[in-house]
Amino acid sequence: MGKDVIIACDFATAEQTFAFLNRFTDEKPFVKIGMELFYAEGPEIVREIKNRGHKIFLDLKLHDIPNTVKKAMAVLSRLDVDICNLHAAGGLDMMRGAVEGLTRPDGTRPLLIAVTQLTSIDQERMENELLIKAPLAEVVMQYAANAKTAGLDGVVCSPLEASKVHEVCGDGFLTVTPGIRFANGPEGDQQRVTTPAKAREIGSDYIVVGRPITAAEDPVAAYRRCVKEFVG
Ligand code: C5P
Repeated sequence: MGKDVIIACDFATAEQTFAFLNRFTDEKPFVKIGMELFYAEGPEIVREIKNRGHKIFLDLKLHDIPNTVKKAMAVLSRLDVDICNLHAAGGLDMMRGAVEGLTRPDGTRPLLIAVTQLTSIDQERMENELLIKAPLAEVVMQYAANAKTAGLDGVVCSPLEASKVHEVCGDGFLTVTPGIRFANGPEGDQQRVTTPAKAREIGSDYIVVGRPITAAEDPVAAYRRCVKEFVG
C-alpha cells in the first residue's frame, strides 16, 4: 500500500456514517473506524463499509495479556480489515501473540501497527502517574523499536515523530499520523498539528484526518484537497 489519506469516521451511528460516505460518489476513501462506532454498531458496520469497497483501519487499540489479544486478533482478521492496532505498552509477547492471531491460515494478514504513547500523555503525566522517568521521545522510539522487533508493520505517531521513527526502524516501517490540519483551519483540541503537505515532506506514510474533512462544509472537496497536498 502506498501513501494515502485515511478519514477518521468518528460518528456515533451507522446512519450518520453512511450519510457521510454516500457523499463520495467518485472515490472510495480509506476509512478509520474507532471504538465509538464499533461498540455502537458491532462488526456488521465493518462488513458493510468493506462491502462498499472501502479500505478499513480498525482502530480498537487492543491491550491485554498475550493469549487474549492473540484470540481477539484472530477474530478481527476474519473481518478482512486492512489495518488494525494495539498498544505497544502491552509488551513484546503481547505484540508477537497479536501477529500470530492475526495471521490467517493462508499466511496473509492485515497490517498491524502500534500506538506508542498516547498524545494525551505528556512528559509530566508519564513521570508522575506512570512512573516512567525516561524522556517521552525516547519512550516513543523504544516502543516503536519493540513493535518492529515483534514483527509489526509500523506505528501511530505524531507527524513530528515520523522521520525519527523511520531513522530508528527503517523507511519501510509505516508511520500513520493523526494531528492534521489545513494551513488556514482551526486547530481544535489537537496540540501538535501539521498540514497534509508538511506531513508528506516529513515522510508520513498515511495521514489520519477527522474533523478537517468530516466537519467541512464540503467534505468531498476537503478530502480531495488533503489527497492533493499529501499524495500529490
Ligand atoms: O478530528 P481529528 O482530525 O483530530 O481526528 C483525528 C483522529 O485520530 C481521531 O479519530 C483520533 O482519535 C485519532 N488519534 C489522534 N491521536 C492519536 C491517536 C489517534 O488524534 N495519538
